[in-house]
Amino acid sequence: MAAPWRGFAHTVSTANHSPGWPFSLCRRRSAPAIAAMGRSYRYTRRMLDAALACPRCDKTPLTVNDGACRCDACKIDFPSIDGIPWLFAEPQAALGEWRGRLQFALQRLSRDEARVAEELENGDLRPLTKRRLERYRKATASHRRALQKLLGPLDVQSMSGNYQTYLALRTRLPADQGLNTYYANVHRDWSWGREENEASLKQIRAVLHENAELGDVLVLGAGAGRLAYDLHMQMDCSRTVALDFNPMLMLVAQAITRGETLKLHEFPIAPKSLEDDAILRMLSAPEPVRDGFHLVLGDALRAPFAPGSFDTLVTPWLIDIISEDLADFAPRVNLLLKPDGRWVNFGSLAFPGPERATQYSPEEAKAIIAESGFSDPYVAEATIAYMCSPASRHARREKVFTFSAYRERDAGKPTRHRALPDWIVTGKDPVPLTPSFRTQAMTTQIYAFIMSLIDGKRSIKDIAKVLEQQKMMSRGEAEPAIRSFLTKMYDDSQQQSGF
Ligand SMILES: C[S@@+](CC[C@H](N)C(=O)[O-])C[C@H]1O[C@@H](n2cnc3c(N)ncnc32)[C@H](O)[C@@H]1O
Repeated sequence: MAAPWRGFAHTVSTANHSPGWPFSLCRRRSAPAIAAMGRSYRYTRRMLDAALACPRCDKTPLTVNDGACRCDACKIDFPSIDGIPWLFAEPQAALGEWRGRLQFALQRLSRDEARVAEELENGDLRPLTKRRLERYRKATASHRRALQKLLGPLDVQSMSGNYQTYLALRTRLPADQGLNTYYANVHRDWSWGREENEASLKQIRAVLHENAELGDVLVLGAGAGRLAYDLHMQMDCSRTVALDFNPMLMLVAQAITRGETLKLHEFPIAPKSLEDDAILRMLSAPEPVRDGFHLVLGDALRAPFAPGSFDTLVTPWLIDIISEDLADFAPRVNLLLKPDGRWVNFGSLAFPGPERATQYSPEEAKAIIAESGFSDPYVAEATIAYMCSPASRHARREKVFTFSAYRERDAGKPTRHRALPDWIVTGKDPVPLTPSFRTQAMTTQIYAFIMSLIDGKRSIKDIAKVLEQQKMMSRGEAEPAIRSFLTKMYDDSQQQSGF
């Protein structure tokens, strides 16, 4: 029977927050309890290991040693990050990219902190503004330390590039999939209270009908892990594997589901009051997760599992934001399920494109799923509160599209997903000199030249004159071009860190 969950949203005023390490381990367990947990964890971990497959060649099983995995066919080692297997097809490239993203996020926070410190030097600030800025500066510093600590297992300290280099080389982060993109979800999952999390589970129950036995469950795009945790704790799951590609979210999920309390700041989009500008929150689970719950870091498009490994595959808020057409993604889900396995989806239906043709309506989404070897999806729709921080004036209501569909037949082997060409991923092949690269190289040189002319004295008209003298373009053409280029540079310089 489902446990009666207590509310567990706490806020800690930053005024009372003593400086120092922002984490504390609140729950302590006895030594025999820890030993017993270790034994049963090792047993269920062996079950997980048996389902793992190499995300590069799809060979199974991987050799597993102390949490780290190896594909003997590819001769590739997959590290483990604080015990979470790191199963990306190019493990070192993915590690480098995420480390770079994190380092950039940390540097950005330091920069924010310094910028606010500068603003605070203005003697004309109103007392209330000064108070808000002082709180914000402290919160930013604490947040940076918290992130640094949380992501310690990724060894970000090994990165030495400076902020400008990271800004210039910003990895091919889809703008909507950064390290912080789903940072608010962390708070929704583990500190805002019950309403949204209970509503999610209710929607899932609504499509399960009388068959609520979930068996071996895989949650793809699990984020900070709350839904996977709730499924595992409140429903009939023999094993639950939660996968995401964002290490920050998975490390939060790891710490909290094993019983720790994290203290992390929330920075609401539209604070309700001055004190809500930055709030230190305590994030915790109602209780430590029971056995059989596992986290995996990897790409849902190259999911590192043997075909037919799961009875239930859950995609919460994923099918419309994942960077693959639903018609290509659905056969991947099919492949991971056992015969008669079930796909349970929950979340929005707001395909961003870029092509109009793939921005599917609910009717088309249902048809694609049925065409991909599934039964006609059973759909439930309901309007629920979504990302409603108690501290923000900004909130969403969303009509969610929840369905369940049984795997009825094979949908064929999906083609291997390649997000990027090999010369980028492996770094070993020559970088091709494509026509668009030539053009970009030219424009970059021109931009670099314009930037080099900024000396604190020249005006846009003066710079246009230099471009004309260099026979690059006429003064009349150059002036509006320089203006729009500098407008973009100016806009970029005004951007907030996003926290
Ligand atoms: C909209 S969020 C939903 C998160 C979580 N399910 C929830 O409901 O809060 C989408 C999640 O999918 C993850 N994600 C997106 N593309 C992914 C991919 N290709 N592989 C693994 N995770 C992915 C993101 O990191 C993010 O955690």
